[in-house]
Amino acid sequence: MKIEGKVAIVTGGASGLGKATAEALVAAGAKVVIWDMNEENGKAVAAELGENCSFMKINVTDEAAVEEAINKVVEQHGALHILGNIAGIARPRLVISKDGPTALKDFTDVIDVDLIAPYNILRLAAWAMSKNEPVTEDGERGVIINTSSIAAEHGQRGQQSYSAAKGGLNSMALPAARALARNGIRIAGIMPGLFETPIYGGNVEKMNAHLQNAVFPVRFGKPAEFASLFLEVCRNSMINGTTIRLDGAVRF
Ligand SMILES: NC(=O)c1ccc[n+]([C@@H]2O[C@H](COP(=O)([O-])OP(=O)(O)OC[C@H]3O[C@@H](n4cnc5c(N)ncnc54)[C@H](O)[C@@H]3O)[C@@H](O)[C@H]2O)c1
Repeated sequence: MKIEGKVAIVTGGASGLGKATAEALVAAGAKVVIWDMNEENGKAVAAELGENCSFMKINVTDEAAVEEAINKVVEQHGALHILGNIAGIARPRLVISKDGPTALKDFTDVIDVDLIAPYNILRLAAWAMSKNEPVTEDGERGVIINTSSIAAEHGQRGQQSYSAAKGGLNSMALPAARALARNGIRIAGIMPGLFETPIYGGNVEKMNAHLQNAVFPVRFGKPAEFASLFLEVCRNSMINGTTIRLDGAVRF
């Protein structure tokens, strides 16, 4: 679909890959609503991007707040065409430590944010999108893009929760695309490799150690490179039911 004039929700838009995506969507002529828990950063990004960007403080795991916020977006902008599920957390934990099994909550919290929340937003957004007038000759009404990770395919030690959540996103792309085909709604995902964002908590040493596994280019991905693919997925109607690696061939 053409991005100009469309309405998008970008979760996690206050930072990193989400912020770059919000910037790119606004530059391409969309109206963007950023959802994030980080109010300070979210408001700053929205202010920077001007009148076509606004911010809502949302915890993506809050089912009722998400439903209310989707209704508000549609009320304010008349429709919802693009959903970028980008908010995410990583909380690596071993399975057992010297003191015993690690806390189950550390696993379930990541599943809540990285798998259940994106699905909840997907189902509510799909309902809103199903009411849109078609925006392409094919009858397309909306596109939903989940942010997975290469950890879905080869997670590292301690990434059980993160890999399981991201693998879940990959696995749901095809069945959700099949289910929503009759509504003209596409579902796709992007699996980033190593991208330079605050998710690593500024641990430069740890980040540089990861680069030993880089193939080409030997550097971190730039958030703008993620955003560029995000825009292509919006524009290219043949991308559906799949999750695309964006990783410069990195393998661990
Ligand atoms: N940076 C990478 O190398 C990399 C690699 C693979 C996948 N990813 C995925 O990309 C996505 C974005 O990551 P990033 O690197 O930009 O991280 P980031 O930490 O810079 O941004 C994540 C944003 O999500 C928000 N967020 C977290 N939990 C939330 C919640 N419950 N409700 C609302 N907002 C919440 C944070 O406030 C933050 O603004 C994540 O899903 C992450 O798993 C990142």
